[in-house]
Amino acid sequence: MSYDVIVVGSGLSGLYGALQAARHGSVLLLTKANLEESNTYHAQGGIAVALTAADSPELHFRDTMIAGAGLCDPRAVRVLVEEGPRRVRDLIERGVPFDRVDGQIAFTREGAHSQARVLHAGGDATGRSIEETIAEQVRSSPRITIRQNALAHDLIQDRRRVVGVRALDCTTGVSEAFYAPAVVLATGGAGRLFSQTTNPGVATGGGIALAYRAGAEIADLEFVQFHPTALAVPGAPRFLISEAVRGEGGILRNAAGERFMTTVDPRAELAPRDVVARAIALETRRSPGNQVYLDVTHLDANHFRHRFPTISAVCEKYGIDVGRDLIPVAPAAHYLMGGIKTGRWGETSLPGLYACGECACTGVHGANRLASNSLLETIVFSGRVMQRLFEDAGEENERRPDGTDQTDLLPDIRIVVEPPRRWEAPSRSIDALRDLTWSLAGLDRDADGLRALERISSAWQAQDAGSATREDAELSSLTILARLLALAGLSREESRGAHFRTDFPEPNPDLRRHIVLVNGLPSTGDRSESIRASVGGS
Ligand code: SIN
Repeated sequence: MSYDVIVVGSGLSGLYGALQAARHGSVLLLTKANLEESNTYHAQGGIAVALTAADSPELHFRDTMIAGAGLCDPRAVRVLVEEGPRRVRDLIERGVPFDRVDGQIAFTREGAHSQARVLHAGGDATGRSIEETIAEQVRSSPRITIRQNALAHDLIQDRRRVVGVRALDCTTGVSEAFYAPAVVLATGGAGRLFSQTTNPGVATGGGIALAYRAGAEIADLEFVQFHPTALAVPGAPRFLISEAVRGEGGILRNAAGERFMTTVDPRAELAPRDVVARAIALETRRSPGNQVYLDVTHLDANHFRHRFPTISAVCEKYGIDVGRDLIPVAPAAHYLMGGIKTGRWGETSLPGLYACGECACTGVHGANRLASNSLLETIVFSGRVMQRLFEDAGEENERRPDGTDQTDLLPDIRIVVEPPRRWEAPSRSIDALRDLTWSLAGLDRDADGLRALERISSAWQAQDAGSATREDAELSSLTILARLLALAGLSREESRGAHFRTDFPEPNPDLRRHIVLVNGLPSTGDRSESIRASVGGS
């Protein structure tokens, strides 16, 4: 079965990219669950873009660069902030029902933004509103073939060139091959690597593992953003309590009822996420009962319920009345800044393979993503991939005359990853892996923990039995990602952005560079060969 392009993943990158591609040719959209289940669907805060009179792409550029802690690629950030307004206007024209006040789009403010520039929809149901609107258009496009429950488990390669995808039909257990001159991975992030995460079950890093096995470069995998405020009710999932709640006046208090963020950072609750998340973790350890709270009781309760209907309903489900009670919160893994290394047109290091959205590392987030830049990235860069594929877009002008877009980063550190080792390891399961990753490579890391994670994940990778079921495939991907994260985290002997090493608590100017990982034994496109090679080499 052959198409003009295969898109893997159905978050906003996949859906929006598929719609753009369908203007020019035939598209196969593969998604391992149902069409709407994605990180996008669960996004609350919104989509950041410079659209108000007080704002400008330049201000958005500056905020993004500062949040990225010295590792953003200014040329990619420039693309994001300058093409963002056009793409968001396209969403508005496509009928996404962004919230309005007196007929005008409403903008909110989130941490580390100098302006109120975050559009939202359905109050705190921004992702759902966008995903549903765009998914409907994808469903009605005659040029897009949708295969749900189809899990891409191998890239098909002709030498290095990617020419297709092998996908497991999760309902029948049968694997099928699909061919196209271009494969676009839009498979999202890997929050499920951690036992504490705001991400849904589908966020298992499959596209990144797929690309890695085929030999693509993977970058910045040590940078995982921990959201400061996930609901912390024993036994309940870590449901996201949007940063927009703090943007609209929510205050963090310790168990004694004291506001503590004012003593940590002048930006208080709206400091960058890594700062707030670590402050909460510290305060939690210090507080009696080991608990920190988000207080919204001083806000107008009716307005709050209207502005944050999903959050209010979930709190209520757990017996928390947002008008009267404090909301217990804790940090949780939320977003992966790293991923498949791409250029500014989504091109990877493998011909025929493109990536966009959370599975890609375009350079726009650096060491720490600015809140609500991720939905913007999905539409800007998936749009660019399709522009490159179908409109033969030329190379952009690389340098601005004032030189502000030149990167002054040091050369990448390139790690060629050795075959996994067969060592004694505790028995292998997704839950065990998630617990280990949370405790050994969570908010605080050190060499001992990262080494232990690398050792165990390497042993588990050597035991990999393939992708006969969705669970096997997800365990396999998560194991690869845990190992790559550990290797990158070990090499980054400093603290920068979201990566905090207790044994190297300061940034090191010599590490203003990316860590790029490549598989020492790339697959030739056939999974069984890749496993044989790994085991044989161990
Ligand atoms: C949030 O609503 O706090 C999440 C927004 C984001 O991750 O950018």
